[in-house]
Amino acid sequence: MELTEAQQQILDGADGPFLAMCMRWLVEWGEAMGARRLVPCANTHALVTVPGNLVQGAGQKPLEKTLELLRSACQHCVACHSTTHITFAHDEQYDEIEMPADQVAAQQEILEMASEAGFLMTYTCAPYVVGNVPLKGEICAWTESSAVVYANSILGARTTRHGTESAIAAALLGVVPEFGVLLDENRKATLQVDVAVPLRSTTDWGALGYFAGKLAGLHIPVFNDAPRPSQDDAKQLCAALASGGGVNMCHIAGVTPEAATLSEALGGEAPKIHATFGEQELRDTYGQLRNHSGDQIDTVILGCPHASFQEVAYIASRLRGKKLADGVRLWVCMAYATRAAAERVGFADAIKKAGGYVFVDTCPTNSMLVQAKRIVTAGFKQAHYARGMIGAEVIIDNTDACIEAALTGRWTDGGTN
Ligand code: F3S
Repeated sequence: MELTEAQQQILDGADGPFLAMCMRWLVEWGEAMGARRLVPCANTHALVTVPGNLVQGAGQKPLEKTLELLRSACQHCVACHSTTHITFAHDEQYDEIEMPADQVAAQQEILEMASEAGFLMTYTCAPYVVGNVPLKGEICAWTESSAVVYANSILGARTTRHGTESAIAAALLGVVPEFGVLLDENRKATLQVDVAVPLRSTTDWGALGYFAGKLAGLHIPVFNDAPRPSQDDAKQLCAALASGGGVNMCHIAGVTPEAATLSEALGGEAPKIHATFGEQELRDTYGQLRNHSGDQIDTVILGCPHASFQEVAYIASRLRGKKLADGVRLWVCMAYATRAAAERVGFADAIKKAGGYVFVDTCPTNSMLVQAKRIVTAGFKQAHYARGMIGAEVIIDNTDACIEAALTGRWTDGGTN
């Protein structure tokens, strides 16, 4: 890879061993991916937290290793706008899910030193709902696959999928290796999905994404004849695309920034794969994430990816003055900035008074300490991972059906079958 003189000097250790290591991570990754140069990066979203696997009793080594990495990183200031992904340990969840005290203390230490280094500790999987909204063409380095798809597709920003080390290195150095969807030629759609069924809910957009994600592999889908999504619809679409397959971006013809027309999205070429998403495909996709053996439920999870203020408002309006069924837990996951807004106007109170729990900074699946037998959720990503990570039976359905299940203790199909 061709480096500038300044980049070579950092690699050679001119700015100290930690930044030299960061430069080496980016250079070696870039070389493995065929990148020819490093390009300026204006925006990162990094995982700056204690490791999640600790909560399953992995011992102290991963915690010490992570602390060592982050203590070294936070000796330096960030070089660009840098927000943070979810955490795995939080004092407020301590009682609810028995988070080990040493991890809570370590997380507090990380919060303080990373803030000092200039990271904006947003603790969310949906940074775009709390103010990190890169512009079209802005080069980013984001972790969280659903947010990567959103940034590339809905905002027209450019980011490959990052891991912890590469995003931190990009945050400190302000550069990333140029490959993949950072380049124009790799942003063209090659899979055309004709949408031939009305999308009646935000979760239906998730079904569309999950269907296309499974089909896509590493192809880039373009949705043809799709309606215009709301921000929450788009959030759901992108999260489901990222969990159904390895998709980094999509286009919606006539809607997203690089797809004024179907032909523009396809780069003037014929699609390599052409599929239709109709009534049958919609039903089948819901069916793939329903493995329940009964209708009695004990857990409802909303806010995957983290709920927007608008979604919290809707959930609060549906719960106001009501009570959850005995033995049912409702978790509504969001960033703490969203909760602050929800507390200011009474939405958080309405959820809590009904018996719900406002889950900030992380989500039940990622905290991995949750015990549940049968979960209903409106998030395809949550449903996809909860089966394996929580080991519960899962039912995917729209937000109204989830809230109804929370209030009655029994799931009734929200209209997909
Ligand atoms: Fe976010 Fe958890 Fe879903 S991290 S995307 S709420 S699985």
